[in-house]
Amino acid sequence: MKYPDIELNPFFSWANRPRIMYGPGIRSELGFEMGQLGGTRAVIITDKGVVNAGVAQLVADAMTKSGLELAGIFDHIVQDARIDLINEGAAFYRDKGADCMVVVGGGSVMDSAKAINILIGDGADDFMPLAEQAALWDGAKPLPPHIVFPTTAGTASEVTTAIVVLDVDARVKLQVTHPYNADIAMLDPELTVKLPPKITAFTGMDALTHAVEGVTSSGAEPLADACGLHAIRLIFRYLPLAVHEPDNITARGNMLIASTLAGLCFGNVMTGAVHATAHALGAHYGIPHGLANAIMLPVVMASNVEAAPERYTMVADAMGIAVHGMSDAEAALAAVQAVKDLKNDIGLTQTLRDFNVPNDSDELQQTVELAASDSQISYNPRYLEDSDILELLLKAY
Ligand SMILES: [Fe+2]
Repeated sequence: MKYPDIELNPFFSWANRPRIMYGPGIRSELGFEMGQLGGTRAVIITDKGVVNAGVAQLVADAMTKSGLELAGIFDHIVQDARIDLINEGAAFYRDKGADCMVVVGGGSVMDSAKAINILIGDGADDFMPLAEQAALWDGAKPLPPHIVFPTTAGTASEVTTAIVVLDVDARVKLQVTHPYNADIAMLDPELTVKLPPKITAFTGMDALTHAVEGVTSSGAEPLADACGLHAIRLIFRYLPLAVHEPDNITARGNMLIASTLAGLCFGNVMTGAVHATAHALGAHYGIPHGLANAIMLPVVMASNVEAAPERYTMVADAMGIAVHGMSDAEAALAAVQAVKDLKNDIGLTQTLRDFNVPNDSDELQQTVELAASDSQISYNPRYLEDSDILELLLKAY
């Protein structure tokens, strides 16, 4: 399609960290690259799932073979970046006398690791006061060397400055940002082939949501558009393949690239109501982030169509829909249908009903309030009252 007549955002900024390296087996470069950063003795931050799948060992082997000393493996991270485990991870790093970190995992691991490195860099031992500040940019200094291997193609925490942490006691997710994320993101598709189809599917939907919400965000700008739209092309081409043929390195590699592109997109222009509601649903009902996004994405898209019709037409075009001859409204609705079809193809049929979310206005009130106070809601292309958010949740039941 021809580029539409879209108003250029008069001001935007673009962050360029970290360096990105891609390649099946790129982990063999770990020792050399960490040495260049000044790291000699690394702690691996990961979780038990990654350890049990043998993936942490693949990285540990590559590490020692390439001359980087292994100080220890911290594998206590669980779903969501929990503040108590972040504090525990920082204590582990110090006890082991490490001077750098290698991170192997999905979003919860990568977010936890970013927070652990902030504690190490600041010489602090409790992340809670930092999480309450939310933006840690004032006087921020570079942190110890940090190389990350994403093992899911979804959250893109490897390239964003955001950390979503869970305050377990308050059942609230807090978003924290710090300008120094990882030094290098190594995208090694060999580390993702063991990811089960179900998790491949919903993390892939997280990546798609980043791209769609980024391209349609109120902060959208051309650099983010380029990344987000290409991410959508790659996801529609390769996510079904990655789900149905887990060993397909081409599909896995393209999904890692798509996820990173989508991360560069939303990391600079933010997301919208899908993420705001998904954060609230995750905090109150424990719905995994990607799955909550997958449930909310078509519902939110349908409600946003009129607020940014040209942008949803670009999204439809990137999905492979023949938009020529369609009105913007028709193209946008075709994009909503394409998301539903993709979800069916990859086996994601859940709704909020499957997670015991109440179908009742009063009982949903706290979730609505949490979504309405989420930092991402203000980037949604359409302004949403609490009653609009409630309606979105009820439609996703
Ligand atoms: Fe996300």
